[in-house]
Formats: sequence, C-alpha cells, structure tokens
Amino acid sequence: MLKLEKDTRHKVRFVLNGSPVSGWADARMLLSDFLRQELGETGTHVGCEHGVCGACTVRIEGRAVRSCLTLAVQAEGFDIQTVEGLAGDDGALNALQTAFRKHHALQCGYCTSGILMSLTDMFQRNPSPSRDEIEDVVGGHICRCTGYAGIMDAALEVAEAGAGK
Ligand code: FES
Ligand code: FES
Repeated sequence: MLKLEKDTRHKVRFVLNGSPVSGWADARMLLSDFLRQELGETGTHVGCEHGVCGACTVRIEGRAVRSCLTLAVQAEGFDIQTVEGLAGDDGALNALQTAFRKHHALQCGYCTSGILMSLTDMFQRNPSPSRDEIEDVVGGHICRCTGYAGIMDAALEVAEAGAGK
C-alpha cells in the first residue's frame, strides 16, 4: 500500500549579511548545514561539528556563535553575519581581512572564516583590546597551519590602530 510521507521540514527566514533569506530545514538541521547546503553560503566552514574547533563561527545579533551548535530553526527572525558579509559592497577587504593578508595569517584557510568572525565580535565591543584579550579569543579556535603568530600579528595591528569594526 502506498504510504505518503508527511513533510516535516520547517520554513526558516532570517536576515543574512543584510539581505532577507529563507529556506527549508528539518527540525534537527544545524545552522552550519543550512547556510552551506540550503543557502549555498560556503564561507562558513565545518570541522569538528561539536563546538571545539571554531571553524563554523558566525555572528547572530552581533555575537559570535558556533553554528554547528545552533539549529537552523533557532535562527528564525535573527540578524546573521557570516564571513561573506565582512567585505564592502565593492568587494574591498575590511581592516581585519587586510591585516590577515598582510601578515600571512592563514595557510589552508580552513579556520580563517571562524577566527575572523570571533575577532569581529571582539572588535565590535572593544576596538582596542589587549594582547591577552586577543589571545583569549584566538585560543577558542583550532588552526593546524599557522602557529597563530600571523593571526596575532594581524589582530594586534588592528587593535593598535583601533580600526576593528
Ligand atoms: S565545526 Fe563548529 S566548532 Fe568545530
Ligand atoms: S590556516 Fe589552516 S587551519 Fe588555520
């Protein structure tokens, strides 16, 4: 006998990098998967998928959040920023991205989008953080390539210029 499956997906709508977006998600779909698979925004990376590596970090209502620990349905109605939203409308890199490029603060780049989002969160609240404050933020991310020196140099340069945004 033909059995009809009931569609259990939920419509999810939020503002992504300044533009309204929507898509469908199962109740247990992660925000990281929703961004990448449903919306095609692949700048947010997925590593450990249990909140440790930080690769999936995005900003929800301005605060850095692990998107692998957030359900897509929990994002309904919020303002979300991903790494795709950091550059200007003309594609120009912002001060933090420019400093990353200058100081070779990335190699494979897998960790980079998450680190940029956490540092952006910090700079938004404190444009001139101390080295210790920056280390606290960067220490919440796993980078297997750089040894962190370039990342610290880039963040410190932005902090010293008070140019974080
Ligand atoms: S993928 Fe989310 S913290 Fe590692
Ligand atoms: S640049 Fe490769 S993991 Fe950080």
